[in-house]
Amino acid sequence: MSTVFLNGEFLPGDQAKISVFDRGFLLGDGVYEVIPAYSGALFRLDEHLNRLQSSLNEIKLANPLSNDEWVTMLNRLIAKNYATELSVYLQVTRGIAVRDHAFPTNTAATIFAMANPIKPMDANCYQKGVSAIMVEDNRWARCNIKAISLLPNVLLRQQAVEHGVVEAILHRRGHVTEGAACNIFAVFNDEIVTPPKSSELLPGITRDLILELAQDNGFKSVESEITLEEFKLADEIWLTSSTKEILPVTMLDDVQVGNGQPGKVWSAMNVVYKNYKKQLHSESLK
Ligand SMILES: Cc1ncc(COP(=O)(O)O)c(C=O)c1O
Repeated sequence: MSTVFLNGEFLPGDQAKISVFDRGFLLGDGVYEVIPAYSGALFRLDEHLNRLQSSLNEIKLANPLSNDEWVTMLNRLIAKNYATELSVYLQVTRGIAVRDHAFPTNTAATIFAMANPIKPMDANCYQKGVSAIMVEDNRWARCNIKAISLLPNVLLRQQAVEHGVVEAILHRRGHVTEGAACNIFAVFNDEIVTPPKSSELLPGITRDLILELAQDNGFKSVESEITLEEFKLADEIWLTSSTKEILPVTMLDDVQVGNGQPGKVWSAMNVVYKNYKKQLHSESLK
């Protein structure tokens, strides 16, 4: 049984209980983060804590822990659940109160965190690429918040599952936004393109890292809107997230993307990404 953190205590997952009056449970009133930890070292931790702070600011909830307290708690959680590749999930809700939409006063936030081994994706997914479908983005207008209320994303991902594909790629008003649980990139004539940050998409930590690595390693890259028509003609399409890393899409709506194989820009960027991970790992051992 894994050890989880709940409101100041570490305890076995099956003994962690929250109130039925928790606003996270009743109203989906909270935010979360997912942070990978490789060989015990939290990956891009500052970026994740900054995004947590920005989600909390957006929902007007005071951060219940200082950054140092988050780091100490997360490191203890990792030590208690050690695996070479962990996915650390943390969630903050507006706490326990009589059910009412308006914010309660003087209510302590609920803080929960767990760490689970990252289930590696089938190696075939990276060697051959995966399939995706395009679906109208019918989520709310504040997708930049990493909110726990994920019902629209759940329904969109389920559409993908029912089509037998890995992800639903979303579009709004004629341009692509992101995936149900990832960001998207397209490659046109060797240039890497991803939609700019806005309230229509989550500012992915992996997305930002790829743009940074692209700059540092001489790839052409740009943040720009991509219309549906352009997207369908991309040479390459990638899905990115902390746990998927960079996943090539080779079939979109049953039509081959590019030559139907993971592209050469993906292959090059994937090597750069893996090397970056290795470099951080060797630095963390020093
Ligand atoms: C809707 C959505 N967009 C993008 C991402 C990718 O974010 P990150 O790279 O920080 O994992 C996620 C991750 O779960 C997500 O749920």
